[in-house]
Amino acid sequence: MSRKNRTIIFLAALLVIFTACTTTGRGAPERKYDWNDGPYLIQSGSSGTSVTVCWITTEKRDSTLVWGTSESDLSNTITSSDSRVHSVLIEGLLPGSNYFYSIQEEFLLFPGNEVFDFSTPADPAGDEPLEIIIAGDLQPKNEYTLMTNRIVAEQIDREDPDFIIQVGDAVQTGSSSESWHNLMSSLPLMASERPIIPAIGNHEYYFPHDNGSFRSVFPYNYSAKKSCYYSLDIGEVHITVLDPYDGGPAGLKAKMTEKQKQWFISDLDSAVREGAGWIFVVLHQTVLTSGEFFDDVELRKWILPILSDHDIDAAFWGHTHFYEHWEYQYGENGYLLSPDDKPGNNPVDYFVIGSSGASLESNYDLLYHKPFTGESHSWYNTNTGLMEEIETIQYPWNPDVFFEGEQGKNQFNDTDLHFYQLPFDLNGEYSSDPLISYATDNQWFGYQYGENTLHYAKLSITDDECIVTIHYPDGTLLSGPDGSIPQRFTLPRKRRN
Ligand SMILES: [Fe+2]
Ligand SMILES: [Fe+2]
Repeated sequence: MSRKNRTIIFLAALLVIFTACTTTGRGAPERKYDWNDGPYLIQSGSSGTSVTVCWITTEKRDSTLVWGTSESDLSNTITSSDSRVHSVLIEGLLPGSNYFYSIQEEFLLFPGNEVFDFSTPADPAGDEPLEIIIAGDLQPKNEYTLMTNRIVAEQIDREDPDFIIQVGDAVQTGSSSESWHNLMSSLPLMASERPIIPAIGNHEYYFPHDNGSFRSVFPYNYSAKKSCYYSLDIGEVHITVLDPYDGGPAGLKAKMTEKQKQWFISDLDSAVREGAGWIFVVLHQTVLTSGEFFDDVELRKWILPILSDHDIDAAFWGHTHFYEHWEYQYGENGYLLSPDDKPGNNPVDYFVIGSSGASLESNYDLLYHKPFTGESHSWYNTNTGLMEEIETIQYPWNPDVFFEGEQGKNQFNDTDLHFYQLPFDLNGEYSSDPLISYATDNQWFGYQYGENTLHYAKLSITDDECIVTIHYPDGTLLSGPDGSIPQRFTLPRKRRN
């Protein structure tokens, strides 16, 4: 092929990619889908008084849902017309009540007219804590990850939370109907009886760059026509879900539209103004991580001051397939990202909830990547009034630091060892040994603990406190290599106004 022809083909490919990047297409499951899958719930209407039931059929057709207040009295009928991806909004529900529904379809996981039930959250909350499970990346793509997804989904169902948040990368390939079917081989086990609140990940955008499948499978009222960011309130709990990739192809870095950035600030402003008891932020992209990739430094620079200014309670992201936790009070160490910023009033908890089924980070380059300095950048020293270039080095995780799975910690595969990072020396100080503390900014950001394991997080929220716990797939608490660092955190209610 001549050089000229190659150039023409290259330019044509660029045009295709560019076109794909600027459109939101019809999702893959709407074009072709060979299975009856579901059902699963989402919370696209007001929590407490509505729920949306979703399912997918092999062909475009009418499909009927019946529902009611008891298993024997499903007297309300709603028909979803001429669709492949069905979503039916049930409204007029009473807070703190039980309901039942059934769909007149045979599903992969639920042959026959299975009857499902769900409860609406009480308002006011009353004595029962509101329980939210946070699930990490799922990405079922082979027999093993289909199994791990199923095991974690069954455990989340046993936990019986009120809601599930999923941090993105629910599927391996967003443009593949088969990938969505793989997800549906376990998702309904946990989400058929309580709503799921999903964040979009880079894998939902793959390939080409398109969020159409995500938007059709999870039809929330997104805050912009071609993006997947939104927020919702469950009683006093405000949850903001970002779309890190609405401004361009999902790669190693977030690319967010200016419109989303402005929306995010005003969304948090109004949550604070209206006196939200709890504010949680969820996004897929890693603001902080000590995995095999850089922190997204530009994202970090933009978002940390905003999260600190609004004194949010916690933020959760995924993308790196393991667990990590930081407690970081912005500016407390005397450094800000910009002279215009102000230090935070309180520490904020940041979590990587990175795998509730996805292939663990140790199966990538976690243990063997070259040390890198890509996170070095300028900080403003509040004592001297000068900008300083701070170099940070991120090392691979030490392959000799792991503990064997015991009962309850078994990861079902000999190669998925519990590698961990406990960055302290014997005196409890941050170690300077890169074989113990794998990133030189661990102390800076208040790194607490990380572990290469399947897991999920659980929030138990009352009027006064939110208890965050991290669990293995069998429900036991992550407690570190010697059981001395139980991953259980009490977040007191903050007074923001
Ligand atoms: Fe990801
Ligand atoms: Fe992922």
